[in-house]
Order: sequence, then C-alpha cells, then structure tokens
Amino acid sequence: MHRLAETSVPTDPTPETASFRRDLVRGLARKPRSIPAKHFYDARGAELFERICELPEYYPTRTELGILRRHAGEMSARLGPRCIVVEYGSGASLKTRILLDHLASPAAYVPVDISREQLASTAAALDAAYQELPVLPVCADYTADYEVPRPPGEAERTAIYFPGSTIGNFTPDEARHFLAHAAEVAGPNGALLIGIDLEKDAGILNAAYDDSAGVTAEFNKNLLVRANRELGADFRPERFRHVAFWDARHGRVEMHLESACDQRVRIDSHDFALAEGERIHTENSYKYSVSGFAELAERAGWRLGAAWTDADAWFAVLYLEVVSPSG
Ligand SMILES: C[S@@+](CC[C@H](N)C(=O)[O-])C[C@H]1O[C@@H](n2cnc3c(N)ncnc32)[C@H](O)[C@@H]1O
Repeated sequence: MHRLAETSVPTDPTPETASFRRDLVRGLARKPRSIPAKHFYDARGAELFERICELPEYYPTRTELGILRRHAGEMSARLGPRCIVVEYGSGASLKTRILLDHLASPAAYVPVDISREQLASTAAALDAAYQELPVLPVCADYTADYEVPRPPGEAERTAIYFPGSTIGNFTPDEARHFLAHAAEVAGPNGALLIGIDLEKDAGILNAAYDDSAGVTAEFNKNLLVRANRELGADFRPERFRHVAFWDARHGRVEMHLESACDQRVRIDSHDFALAEGERIHTENSYKYSVSGFAELAERAGWRLGAAWTDADAWFAVLYLEVVSPSG
C-alpha cells in the first residue's frame, strides 16, 4: 500500500474538503452519529490544538516534551545514524525538533499530515532551521493510500515517529491495522518511536478534555464552523454542548457534540433531525499500559525495545523495531 516514490505532492487542491463532506454526511446519517477525529484539523483547528497543548489541564504535551528532553540522547542512540524520519500527524513539529537536534546525520524528515496550511508552514520553518536536512512534506490522510518520497542521499533505516498519543484516536483494532501498515512503510530493520498516553485517574482525564477556559469545547465545535464554511452547512454551534468523559469500560476518553434542543441541520440536499440530548461522537482517545500496548504492537509485527515514562507514569514514549521474518 505504501511505497517509496519520486514525488509526493497531491494534485487535487481540496481532497480534505471532499473527504470531510463524505464523512460528515455518512456520519450524521448513521446511529449513533459520528464524525472522524481527523477532520478537526483545518487551519483553525490546528491553531486551537496548539492552544490546548498549553493548557494547565492538558498534561500530555508537556509530559511527553519532558520525557523527550530527558531521554532524546538514548532515543537517538537507539534509532542510529542516517535514518529517514517519517512523522505521522506532525502538527507543529515541536517535539520533532528535539529529536532532530539529537539524531546523528538524519537522511531526511518526512512530515505526513492532513492539515495542509500547518504542514506547509511547519515544513518551511524546519527547512530553514535544518539546512542540511532534506524536508519532504506529504499532505495526506495517513490511514489512506499515499506515497513516501525518496530522499536524495543514502539512508540506513526508516524510523516512524508518531508522538502526541494520536494513536489513541484509533480503536485497538484500527491501531493494530495501522501499526501493521507502519511496519510495511518502515520495512525490514525499521523503527517506531511512539508516544502513548497511559491509564490514570478519571478526574485528571476528564479535566484534560474539558478545560476550564473552554478551548477544547471550541476545538470540538470548530467541526461545525468548518462544515458551515467549507460545505455550506447550516449548523448553529451555540445549539450544541461539548461533552467529554472517561469511559472505563472501553478504556478511552470520548468527546461528543450534544444537541441542546430539537433541531434540523442541512448539508447540501441532506437534512438531519437531531433531538435534544442526541450526541455526535467526535473523538476517542484510548489510554494504554506499556505492556498492553507492547502486546498490541507485537501482533502488528513490532517488538518493544525500550520505554521511557515520566515520574508519575502518565505518559510513555516507546521504541519498537520491526520483527524480521526470521524472528
Ligand atoms: C493530536 S495532534 C498531534 C500533533 C503533534 N504530533 C503533537 O504531538 O503535538 C494530531 C495531528 O495529527 C494530524 N492528523 C490527525 N489525523 C490524521 C490523519 N488521518 N492523517 C494525517 N494526519 C492526521 C492532525 O492534523 C494533527 O496535526
């Protein structure tokens, strides 16, 4: 499915909008209603996510940054020299800089993200900051078919970097499929450096996804604002409530948009009736244990090599290697 190619820039200027329209109409037509989390990240959504990362309640970003700052040397030693770093969901590429600063002669940096504007500006900034390093951005949905560009020089191995606990947006089954594809992309001798959010007290989790300043609520409702602007839908965001809670049974935090009244919404020729209290499921954020995640990754062709956590064991960064056919 994923293969090396000479070029990577898609020709269609708005594939994200087309996919948003399709997923929104399908997602509102089914019960329970849902919208895939990947559509949060238009330019405004990416900006709001950066603000979330700085909130006092949102511990994952600063905790992962702390782990990286403390252990980037060991992580880089594990990854070795001249690796191609393929980052999934690169966002602002803030963590990447710490990693790149420690890596020995990286062969290329390939940020893959669906958020077009942010990807372009981040890649340009990295290109200017790391003049020796080929920066080869790919604007794509990493769950779909896309091509990984070939770097100009020699490379020792491919390392997938997937920080931010974004893997938590997948169900465990989807995560396993995704990791199996990542093993294909990385190839024999490939590596994976991944950030996972760990199970913890429900109060901490609930606050992290429903902050007191209301930024996460705005991020959630931005899906509706985006649908109005890009698709000509007629959502009234003030008629929806942001709902986020820890679901112990599934081991995940769920985010929803809850209809505050009986209402109708139009998207093109589609008309949807939402009852008061009815919810649109917008995000899952699964929490793992290190051993539970290692087990899941093992079933997808990866072997755990090292794990680093913070003092509270709230977050972990794992280093894994592709298991060769001979074991
Ligand atoms: C939770 S943010 C993490 C950003 C950054 N990696 C960090 O650790 O702070 C998720 C990022 O993944 C991107 N993303 C989400 N789903 C995606 C998908 N299906 N394909 C490509 N990028 C995706 C978003 O645009 C966003 O930049």
